[in-house]
Amino acid sequence: MFSGMMMPIMINMSTINYALTATIGGILAVTRGLDIGGLASFLQYSRQFGRPINELSSQVNSLQAALAGAERVFEMMDQLPEPTDEENAITLSKVNGDVRFENVTFGYGPEKVILHDINLSVKPGNKIAFVGSTGAGKTTIINLLPRFYDIQSGKITIDGIDIKDVSRESLRKSMAIVLQDTHLFTGTVMENIRYGRLTATDAEVVNAAELANAHSFITRMPKGYQTVLDGDGSNLSQGQRQLLNIARATVAEAPILILDEATSSIDTRTEKLIEQGMDTLMQGKTTFVIAHRLSTVQNANEIIVLEFGNIIERGSHTDLMSKKGKYYQLYTGQFS
Ligand SMILES: Nc1ncnc2c1ncn2[C@@H]1O[C@H](COP(=O)(O)OP(=O)(O)OP(=O)(O)O)[C@@H](O)[C@H]1O
Ligand SMILES: [Mg+2]
Repeated sequence: MFSGMMMPIMINMSTINYALTATIGGILAVTRGLDIGGLASFLQYSRQFGRPINELSSQVNSLQAALAGAERVFEMMDQLPEPTDEENAITLSKVNGDVRFENVTFGYGPEKVILHDINLSVKPGNKIAFVGSTGAGKTTIINLLPRFYDIQSGKITIDGIDIKDVSRESLRKSMAIVLQDTHLFTGTVMENIRYGRLTATDAEVVNAAELANAHSFITRMPKGYQTVLDGDGSNLSQGQRQLLNIARATVAEAPILILDEATSSIDTRTEKLIEQGMDTLMQGKTTFVIAHRLSTVQNANEIIVLEFGNIIERGSHTDLMSKKGKYYQLYTGQFS
C-alpha cells in the first residue's frame, strides 16, 4: 500500500507546487511587475527540481520490496531447528510393527488440548482405520507417530520401545507415510519416486509405480520416467500427485505404513484399480489408514471413531454397524 501511494503523492505534490508557483507568480507579475521571463524560467526550474525527487520515490519502492523480502529471510532463519535426539538414543533396526498408544494427551500449544487420553494397540501386520468428522484429530494422531510433534503426557511405543528414546531418523525410516497434502520436488518422476528409498533400483521404482497404478500415466508423459516435474508437481493433477506419493511409499518398503486420505483425489475407478496394489503393499505391515470414503476402511482389523479428540467408538465394521452409533450414521449418511 505504501509503495502504491508513494508515486501518486509525489506527482500530486509537484503538480500542486507548480500550480501554486504559477498562481502566486502571476499575481506578482500583475501587481508587483515581476517580469514574465523570470517567472517562466522559475517555473521550469521548479519542474526540474521535482523530477529527481520523483525518481527517489520510485527507488523507495524497490527498497520496500527488498525489506519485505528480507523479513521473510529472517523469519526463515529464526525457525527453531528440530530438537536433537537424546544422547543415547536407540536406533531401531528390525521393526515388527507392534504400535501402542498409552494414555496419550496432546495439544499443538499449551492452551488447547486436541487429543484426550488416547489408548490404542495395533498388532504387527494389522490394519487400523481412523474415521470421524473434519477436525476430529485424525491427522494429529498420525503426526505423533513419526514424532513430528512430541506428546505432552502418555507414551507411544513401537515393539515395546518408547519412541521418545529412539533416534528420529531410524524411527522415520521404519515408516512409509502418504500425507493428506502431497509434496513433490523439482526433478524427474524417477527421482521423485525413488525419494522413498534412495537405494531403490530403476526396476524397483517402475514396479512400485505399477503397483500404485501410476505406471500408465507416467508412460503417457512426453519423456516417461525422465519427465521433469515442476516445483511441487504443479504440472500434474492432484490425483496423479497422490499416485506418485503412493508409489513413493511403496518403494520405501517400511514395516509401518501410514495413509492419510491417500486416495481422496483419486476417482473411484482408479481407486478400485489400486486397491489390489494397496492390499499387496499392506501385506504384513502395520497400517494406519484415514479415509472419508468409508468403503476403503471396511476391511480394517479395527476402526476407531474419533470426535473432538476422543475415541467414541471402536471395533470392526460389522460390530460398529450393529451398534448403530456414530459410525453407522457416518456410513449410512454417506450412502443413503
Ligand atoms: N499445526 C497445527 N497447529 C495448531 N492446531 C492444529 C494444527 N493442525 C491441526 N490443528 C487443530 O487440531 C484439530 C484436529 O486437526 P486434525 O488435522 O487432526 O483433523 P482431522 O481429523 O485430520 O481432519 P480432516 O478430516 O479435515 O483431515 C483441529 O481442531 C485443528 O484446528
Ligand atoms: Mg486430516
